[in-house]
Amino acid sequence: GMNLHGRHLLKLDDYAPREIAYLLQLASELKAAKYARNEVQYLKGKNIALIFEKDSTRTRVAFEVAAADQGAHVTYLGPNGSHIGTKESMKDTARVLGRMFDAIEYRGHSQKSVEELAQYAGVPVWNGLTNESHPTQILADLLTMQEHSSKPLNEIAFSFLGCVGFNMGCSLLIGGAKMGMDIRLAGPRATWPEESMLARAQAIARETGARILLTEDPAEAVEGCDYIHTDVWVSMGEAPELWAERVKQMLPYQVNSQMMALAKNPNVKFMHCLPALHNTETKLGQEVYAQYGIEAMEVTDEVFESEASIVFDQAENRLHTIKAVMVATLGEL
Ligand code: CP
Ligand code: NVA
Repeated sequence: GMNLHGRHLLKLDDYAPREIAYLLQLASELKAAKYARNEVQYLKGKNIALIFEKDSTRTRVAFEVAAADQGAHVTYLGPNGSHIGTKESMKDTARVLGRMFDAIEYRGHSQKSVEELAQYAGVPVWNGLTNESHPTQILADLLTMQEHSSKPLNEIAFSFLGCVGFNMGCSLLIGGAKMGMDIRLAGPRATWPEESMLARAQAIARETGARILLTEDPAEAVEGCDYIHTDVWVSMGEAPELWAERVKQMLPYQVNSQMMALAKNPNVKFMHCLPALHNTETKLGQEVYAQYGIEAMEVTDEVFESEASIVFDQAENRLHTIKAVMVATLGEL
């Protein structure tokens, strides 16, 4: 068997391909057990801290529901209301929380913060998103692609369009490389990943047989792929002033019906970690419409609401994959 007990999840690169495959398998089993209403609780009596220095819907509720399903208790520490980041350092916070909790989830800005937390907490730390990495999201994305395909991950081709150098693009790159996939990233050169990130992905790819394409041409990226992923053009923690230049840079990468057709694959599916700016029903959507006169940003409403869109299967899988991470690293299996 596979023993991941006591491990952190700071980034996907901390895990070997067979460990990632094991987490996906465990997530499938936990999902099936929940559906069959015969889930076994491996986290009874555990206390888990959830630190969110940025907003969240999915990640927070996935951790909370997974913990409840598994018999654990959570304490939510939001962007305000604790001393974290204002009056108390990460090192001190880590040593306090480590005395009371069995594990800690952390969402924030820098990867260094989550690493420092892990270094001093003495209990497993799980990354719930940093600017660099969103590992629990990628586990959900891999499980979702697996479930919607009749071939193994290493025969699947996917593209990611837009802001390829931020958390989602970089993590999909590393996750895809680990699983030996055909990865195509397309976005304006100004937003490409750092050279060191690319070099690391290429080194992984040499071991796993993954193929990596990084291009400014979205048509080249999507042709023949099974899944098209995208994400917001301005992420949490980035300056809102960036919208103006991003809209100009990113419009050629918008996932609309023409982009879906360029895949030349009638079964191509659309994926997005969410939240998505696909209409003017949100405050941000209205602001963007007033400013730039476009109703959708990274994906049109038409594609988002189409049969090809599997974004809510993907969102549900956040629960099952996060639960698998918790059970594998903290559970009494
Ligand atoms: N995809 C994702 O992480 O969503 P939240 O920001 O709602 O947690
Ligand atoms: N790139 C986005 C992902 C949100 C889940 C952000 O960091 O805001």
